[in-house]
Amino acid sequence: MEPQKKHCFYFLLTLTILPIYASTALGGKRGGGGVLVGGWQPIKNITEPHVKEIGEYAVEEYNKESKSQLKFVSVEKGETQVVAGTNYRLILATKNGALAKNYQAVVWEKVWEHFRNLTSFTPVKA
Ligand SMILES: *[C@@H]1O[C@H](CO)[C@@H](O)[C@H](O)[C@H]1NC(C)=O
Ligand SMILES: *[C@@H]1O[C@H](CO)[C@@H](O)[C@H](O)[C@H]1NC(C)=O
Repeated sequence: MEPQKKHCFYFLLTLTILPIYASTALGGKRGGGGVLVGGWQPIKNITEPHVKEIGEYAVEEYNKESKSQLKFVSVEKGETQVVAGTNYRLILATKNGALAKNYQAVVWEKVWEHFRNLTSFTPVKA
């Protein structure tokens, strides 16, 4: 290759590889512990107060955004993912009057910034 073209080739290569590398790095490969990048890990103890708090936050936030009256009942199941903070993906039991319904909520939390956001809230089969 001529030097000029070679340079261009490497430039393109960098453009292609950098975003992949960046998204991988953000995906949770921290401390070099060999954790699966971007993987969801089951929450070992879903009865922990903090997990319940995330679940309650999700229902509250959903009620605000959709003017609903769902009542949080419990966290049925949950997973977390490390992404510049932590994503919680929880299966929540809720009640709307007598109607019981399960939802899958994703909450993004950055504890040190006191930041939380409800990313999604979708019905699932009970
Ligand atoms: C789960 O968390 C609850 C509340 O913190 C605690 O009482 C319980 O002992 C924990 N269970 C296990 C198996 O760690
Ligand atoms: C929070 O999530 C909603 C979508 O559920 C999004 O519209 C909003 O921009 C997010 N807020 C922040 C601060 O990331």
